[in-house]
Amino acid sequence: MSKRTIMAAGNWKMNKTPGETKEFVNALKGLVAGSNSEVVIGVPSVCIPAATEVAKGSNIKVAAQNVHFEASGAYTGEVSCAMLKELGVEYVIIGHSERREYFGETNEMINKKARAILDAGMLPIICCGETLTQREQGVTAEHVRYQIKIALLGLSADEVSKLVIAYEPIWAIGTGKTATDEQAEEVCAVIRQLLVELYGNDVAEKTRILYGGSVNAGNAKALFSMPNIDGGLVGGASLKLDAFEQIVKHDA
Ligand code: PGA
Repeated sequence: MSKRTIMAAGNWKMNKTPGETKEFVNALKGLVAGSNSEVVIGVPSVCIPAATEVAKGSNIKVAAQNVHFEASGAYTGEVSCAMLKELGVEYVIIGHSERREYFGETNEMINKKARAILDAGMLPIICCGETLTQREQGVTAEHVRYQIKIALLGLSADEVSKLVIAYEPIWAIGTGKTATDEQAEEVCAVIRQLLVELYGNDVAEKTRILYGGSVNAGNAKALFSMPNIDGGLVGGASLKLDAFEQIVKHDA
């Protein structure tokens, strides 16, 4: 079967103002038009209106970096799925290791967020990944399987076939220390095998599994050509037009 559509997803984290977002997306539109990859940019909440407005009519899709799972209520500082959906958001990144570490996001919360995102007609990009200690202890596969198994609880086969999973070893994020192609492939294959066990072959063949952690213009092509890696979740390099353009066009 043919390989899944590659996704190049930027995760801007807490970078760029709304004004800078307009300028960046305007320039990016021309650079990535007609690319074979699905292009997604994960921007700060307040930059979403600027991003969706400028991206309109182009092949750039906009992702949020977080959302609350409740529909509304007394949750100071939070945003809901309906708010994001109304702005034209298509994907929401959930379970990023920075949110787990600094903001106490648990697997159970990530599962509730996935449910809410799908109910609102958007798709989650669910992050997972081990620490350096866990890798050294030899528990990477168990840890990642545990994270993903809980994140997916209660989701239907159809939903799982459409959502995106991002494997991001924590020791590779923002460190310039990329996992080798083989290390990244090994864990993405573990995740796909878990999908086979939980949902069967057909679903597992459709779900996209990204690698994240110091993806750059130089290593994207080799990583994205691995059999179980369907693209990248890109932090630092997604903030630079030329680097992100090259990642999107890795196969050119
Ligand atoms: P990085 O970040 O590409 O800067 O390592 C990746 C991520 O955190 O998603």
